[in-house]
Amino acid sequence: MNNSYRAIWNERALTPESAMAAVDGSSNEEILRHTGRWSADQVTTALDITDTDHVLELGCGVGRIGRELADRCAHWTGVDISENMLTHARKRLVEFENTSFYALERSALDKVDGDSIDKAYSIAVFCHMDKEDLYLYLQDLHRVVKPGGLIFVETWNLVHPVGWRRWAFEPKVWSESDQTQRKDVGRNQFCTPEEFELYVSKAGFEVLANYHESQSLQIVAGKGLSETAIAGQVARLRTHKSEIAYSPLYAELYAQFVDVIFGVQHARDMFLFMQEHADTPEVALYQPYVLSLWHKNSELWGEIPTP
Ligand SMILES: C[S@@+](CC[C@H](N)C(=O)[O-])C[C@H]1O[C@@H](n2cnc3c(N)ncnc32)[C@H](O)[C@@H]1O
Repeated sequence: MNNSYRAIWNERALTPESAMAAVDGSSNEEILRHTGRWSADQVTTALDITDTDHVLELGCGVGRIGRELADRCAHWTGVDISENMLTHARKRLVEFENTSFYALERSALDKVDGDSIDKAYSIAVFCHMDKEDLYLYLQDLHRVVKPGGLIFVETWNLVHPVGWRRWAFEPKVWSESDQTQRKDVGRNQFCTPEEFELYVSKAGFEVLANYHESQSLQIVAGKGLSETAIAGQVARLRTHKSEIAYSPLYAELYAQFVDVIFGVQHARDMFLFMQEHADTPEVALYQPYVLSLWHKNSELWGEIPTP
């Protein structure tokens, strides 16, 4: 069992393929860009990113999102605990001159100056660390973000039925593990909406939106905003909720996908469900993703269906 964040994520990122699989399960560059565009659109709307913004991603992985965001902002900085992830990210973003990368040494943004970042985000990262580390990072995000700046952070939602089902796999896996060893530090971890909001607000941020109607908790928060700015951001985030928050259909697709991965449901049934919901943005996201995994698992999943 591995007890260092860096060691475990470096090991997961030994090759470009394993790194891609570790960031979001994508099986090739085309699918990675497809999911990256979806996430980048969420981030762009959540943070109202403009071409004058200096944007930071905490836990940038292979730059899945950064690659799609770099030409929407003035400068994009990616930081990560894993040097191997950053090696892949540097290569994937080589054509963008407005990018920088830093390897983190601990749960702090030591190489980033205070009050230097307009907008910061972290996707699929806080769900892989202990709460102490999550809180230390939030505190340091508060140091590096400029007054008036925004953050967008997410983790797993323990209280949503799909979040709970995902969590229930963790004790099951642990019950079958060698319990003389410490748990994997990179395992999935979960919060309630109130708990996540507490960490964000205790770190000094004003919470502007807390979307919690899916398997993910997504919080947008600001630093040092005036009352008028807060009211404006809250109204903006309410208007754009459907472009940022995961929908019930997304949560259902995610639940079915987890069941497929854990062998509870056959991929064929998920495929039939997707055909019933064709012409939705959620299926447009999931269908190519599931089909590409089917190509990798065709021995197990059987004949690949035609969309
Ligand atoms: C599931 S990947 C997500 C990557 C990227 N945010 C994305 O959505 O494509 C998690 C990333 O968080 C990084 N990470 C894990 N634990 C970390 C920690 N304690 N500090 C900083 N980064 C960490 C990993 O190296 C990995 O790149």
